[in-house]
Amino acid sequence: MSVTEKFLSMEYGPAPEDPREALVWLDRHARKLGHFIGGSFRPPTDGIYFDTFDPSTGERLAAVAQGSAADIDAAVKAARSALPEWQALTPHARARYLYALARQVQKHSRLLAVLETMDNGKPIRESRDLDIPLVARHFYHHAGWAQLLSQEFPGYVACGVVGQIIPWNFPLLMLAWKIAPALATGNTVVLKPAEFTPLTALAFAEICQEVGLPAGVVNIVTGDGSTGEALVKHPDVDKIAFTGSTEVGRAIRAATAQSHKKISLELGGKSPFIIFEDADLDSAVEGLVDGIWLNQGQVCCAGSRLLMQESVAETLLGKVRERMSTLRVGPPLDKAIDVGAIVARVQLERIQRLVEQGVAEGATCWQPPSLAMPSRGLFFPPTLLSNVHPTSTVAHQEIFGPVLAAMTFRTPREAVELANNTVYGLAASVWSESINVALHIAAQLKAGVVWVNSTNLFDAACGFGGYKESGFGREGGREGLYEYLEPAWFKSAPRSATKPTAIDQPPEQGMDAAAPLIDRTVKLYIGGKQARPDSGYSIEVRRADGRLLGEAPLGNRKDIRNAVEAARKADGWARTTAHNRAQVLYYIGENLSQRAEEIVGRLATVVGKEQAAAEVRQGIERVFSYAAWADKYDGAVHNPPFRSISLAMHEPVGTIGIICPANVPLLGFLSLLMPAIAMGNTVVAVPSETYPLIIGDLYQVFETSDLPGGVVNIVSGRSTELLKVLAEHDDVDAIWSFAGEASSAAAKSLSVGNLKQVFSDEGRAIDWFNIEQGEGRWFLHHATQVKNIWVPYGE
Ligand code: NAI
Repeated sequence: MSVTEKFLSMEYGPAPEDPREALVWLDRHARKLGHFIGGSFRPPTDGIYFDTFDPSTGERLAAVAQGSAADIDAAVKAARSALPEWQALTPHARARYLYALARQVQKHSRLLAVLETMDNGKPIRESRDLDIPLVARHFYHHAGWAQLLSQEFPGYVACGVVGQIIPWNFPLLMLAWKIAPALATGNTVVLKPAEFTPLTALAFAEICQEVGLPAGVVNIVTGDGSTGEALVKHPDVDKIAFTGSTEVGRAIRAATAQSHKKISLELGGKSPFIIFEDADLDSAVEGLVDGIWLNQGQVCCAGSRLLMQESVAETLLGKVRERMSTLRVGPPLDKAIDVGAIVARVQLERIQRLVEQGVAEGATCWQPPSLAMPSRGLFFPPTLLSNVHPTSTVAHQEIFGPVLAAMTFRTPREAVELANNTVYGLAASVWSESINVALHIAAQLKAGVVWVNSTNLFDAACGFGGYKESGFGREGGREGLYEYLEPAWFKSAPRSATKPTAIDQPPEQGMDAAAPLIDRTVKLYIGGKQARPDSGYSIEVRRADGRLLGEAPLGNRKDIRNAVEAARKADGWARTTAHNRAQVLYYIGENLSQRAEEIVGRLATVVGKEQAAAEVRQGIERVFSYAAWADKYDGAVHNPPFRSISLAMHEPVGTIGIICPANVPLLGFLSLLMPAIAMGNTVVAVPSETYPLIIGDLYQVFETSDLPGGVVNIVSGRSTELLKVLAEHDDVDAIWSFAGEASSAAAKSLSVGNLKQVFSDEGRAIDWFNIEQGEGRWFLHHATQVKNIWVPYGE
């Protein structure tokens, strides 16, 4: 073929990347690698190894240690003993280590890229141009955070020893996403890479040695799920950070429920790729190539659901097929390859099975007819499933392969409904030339990341993470750092309530012991109305000396269901302007002030006059504080190093179930309720079980304060029973449990089903009267989730 002919046909010859450096590295380790514990490599305690393969050839690359519980224990011990020295370093000293790691990653970028491609099967173009540069960027960015830590996060301290478990789709990048923020905030780490792709993590371990990172600060233990499980269950680990399947995320939530481990989960997705009729279709199709065929579609935020406006669907599908026909599938070390190998046989079989199921359920399958496929290795052709019914399996289940499921919509509203019709909420991509349309849609999508006219953009400065069953917590940027920090007072707070509960306090001095107390009967408060409990029963509320104070309704499952329904219906509150929410909160504060005296009088009969006066006085202040915060706890604009901005929006979490502390009935209630509603959430609250009569005072205040019905719902009763219903309810998005150790554990284990965010006192005593503990950003942080909306600019 002449040069002219070649030029005209645009056919590419092979352009393989040289694997020699990686092969030398493997041979230098005699193709047998141990764990990296306490600063050096060591063989597994029980001598068991497993093989890791190149999925594009089937060739064995090396034997890698299978981590046992004993290996995990040794690594956790190493991390624990390294902690004091690591934390004693100045922020600047830690920053220098992170900077050195970034530099060293850059120096070894070629080795790392090739090793990654060999172990994972992803095209070298991606590992070289995307994964490894982002790894270095992550360490640089976090070197900066390490430097600024004490200035930017005053009052916060590191969690301690962090266990990190990562998947195989972006092995070194996920390591960087985990290790960089953990080290920057002063934690030490035990990381377990995925069993299919352990090699670059071990190469990184060597980099840690090269930069002289103190021994034990980073430990790498290789192995399969059982190794991960041992890490999750280890009693001396303070936090678990996990990226992987939703199924394992659930198992981790369940396994840590009885402990005080902080967890962050970055799980699966079924992200919509929405194309409006006014989009630049050619750009959208290019975006789609990145969206679903990057890394063979093995990407948690892959744009795997194509939602096309009906008017352009046929044209668009034509362009998609045309573009798919030019994708090159083959040996991933070839620089001209677009689609590499699938990581392992089980994944390949899973993709095949799901595609067959999609076709059986009515989808039309199209694959480029003249596509050249490699004769060996684990490959799957780029695949388009059209005519996918929104209820079919392939529209809902994560395929994690190069398979696009296409559907149509007619109106923007239908697009949003379809897009949000998933248990996941990781990412979304929106294509429209109208910025108004694109941002209007972005605001309505339930996803942690939305890319406008772009896709799969990542940066260390921009938080990444999901809504709903895509997990909780963010990685990257300021928001990501909070996952590795805790308020210092909270970390050192005593485990159990040291104060006697207010209810046990002696009766108020000077009160006539014989005279009956104010006998009140209150109702539930649901949907803005007072409601009788479904059970028809009440609970008698008595003081420690046995005297009757009044009767509170005994709420049950049905009442909670009604309350949740009312809270859901009041979701317009989230769209109310922050200014208007502030006005309502100020009004609540004002009305509370007007009733202050009578509320103090009633509360005093239970908690004593002094506490009652303090609860009301500080309660009013707290309401005013959150009225002030309502329009000030706003997001940020990030500047990633390319022509895009990322708008980090603080959005409400949704409907929050709140279990209030027993011994501070009014101030405890207000301290939790106010940040939640100030940020636009709706709430179902279970008031102090020992003094639920507080409802009566509160609903009178709410009723006179223009608070829309349903924003706050209050159901009294046995808090353990009510917590169970709330935690298991799929329409509740988060549980805030502040009624002690047992309910904190129950909230976590019962909410495994839809992976609710749980914010709790962890059985620690919180001094609600202390402003540092009872108020502020810590609560606001939990009342919001960050959505990063990426908007490109320039021509
Ligand atoms: P996985 O969730 O089993 O594996 C991820 C990591 O968790 C690995 O390091 C694994 O060893 C570890 N692990 C497994 N069981 C564990 C346990 N009980 N406790 C602690 N750690 C455990 O994912 P897998 O099986 O490799 O892939 C299955 C599916 O999961 C994929 O097809 C895809 O749908 C999804 N997935 C999602 C990822 C994401 O980035 N969100 C990444 C990998 C997989």
